[in-house]
Amino acid sequence: MKKMPGGLREGSCVSQRGVHGQAPDVLRKRMVAELRERGSITSDAVEAAFLRVPRHLFAPEVSPEDVYSAPEGIFTKYNARGKPVSSVSAPWLHARMLEAARVGQGMKVLEIGSGGANAALLAELVGGHGSVTTIDIDPDITTRARRLLDQAGYGRVQVEQADGAQPLADAPAGGFDRIIVTVGAADLAAAWQEQLAPDGRLVVPLRFRGLARTIAFAREGHHLCSDTLIRSGFVAMQGFSAHAPRSVRLAGRDVRLVVDEDQEADADALIEAFTGPGHEVWTGVELGGQEGLLPRLEVWLAGAIAPYGRLRATPEAAERGLVGWVLDRGMPAVWDHSTLAYVALRLAPASESYELGVIAHGPGREQLAGRLAEAVRRFDREARNADEPRVRAYRRGGPEVPDGVTIDKPSARLTIT
Ligand SMILES: C[S@@+](CC[C@H](N)C(=O)[O-])C[C@H]1O[C@@H](n2cnc3c(N)ncnc32)[C@H](O)[C@@H]1O
Repeated sequence: MKKMPGGLREGSCVSQRGVHGQAPDVLRKRMVAELRERGSITSDAVEAAFLRVPRHLFAPEVSPEDVYSAPEGIFTKYNARGKPVSSVSAPWLHARMLEAARVGQGMKVLEIGSGGANAALLAELVGGHGSVTTIDIDPDITTRARRLLDQAGYGRVQVEQADGAQPLADAPAGGFDRIIVTVGAADLAAAWQEQLAPDGRLVVPLRFRGLARTIAFAREGHHLCSDTLIRSGFVAMQGFSAHAPRSVRLAGRDVRLVVDEDQEADADALIEAFTGPGHEVWTGVELGGQEGLLPRLEVWLAGAIAPYGRLRATPEAAERGLVGWVLDRGMPAVWDHSTLAYVALRLAPASESYELGVIAHGPGREQLAGRLAEAVRRFDREARNADEPRVRAYRRGGPEVPDGVTIDKPSARLTIT
């Protein structure tokens, strides 16, 4: 796809019937049936909204076939370095976030990060008595969203250019019933906590400890508590809350430790540790084909052990014997000044399943490997068959000070149990 000056992608004149001649409403019905079948859509309200919104009008750069079958988002703008900065998110992700948001008729909704498609779905969900405001930091995107929303018949959606991490000047007095952030955030901006109605819900793609989860929060006393976690990737937030996770390169570009800004990691000491001998501990904990177990363990460990981050390695690193068997998207890791330990996999000796183990390097490797292995076993005993971990978010400087392992963000302190 050709890029326009300023990074917007050029529309390729695709006919309304799509390149293979299927009418958009046929494609849309098929997409909705698939989203229902795979459990992304669970309510009649979200299904009805998806059936009404002409999604293809919000990504005119690609064919309707591609829009309605997109397993991932469609990038719509890149920065000068070729990095995507805006997209229309994937249908399954729109669906899961809207289900998690539980949007009802008559609600006042704020969407942060515009594109048009999700705002149109929200407009359907709130109906004629509700309101939808969508804001984006980028004037190219707000101009585009305004135009596409008007063309699709959603002139009632309000589009504003603003930094979504800052308070909105014309926020409703009682707060928004729903705030839906559609851009990757590294902090829970104070503005979201303040502009949320007392019984509101906040849905936000949050990065913490090298993980990316879209989290649906509701209020629980003075703090927020999660009830839904969705594994998902988003373009990163720009502006006031812009943030790039820090990577410690342990072996060039091939092996990296991804940490948050509140975490200290002595790069030289860890690089030296990593070049030394490894110590392995196998936990006896098997994944046993239980879908979602590893993602749940990753989040649970972030609230159980500190410091905690993510070891990422290229497939070449494993081929060269630099790391054990780790997944491309990374594995849980802990460190202690000059010692590093991470979770790895092997085929379980007596079954078709995979066993979780720990590999550690550095002078304290036996002890640190034992600590991480014990945390994995504790998850197996206490949390494996429990509900999803709960993420609680407390205002920084607020009246509540949580105990135990915490994750400190500029505006919020998180706990995970
Ligand atoms: C994934 S896109 C939004 C997708 C869209 N909601 C949809 O319908 O699919 C993320 C958007 O967030 C915007 N963005 C980045 N930082 C922002 C900020 N601080 N405030 C508001 N918008 C921001 C980007 O310009 C980009 O257009």
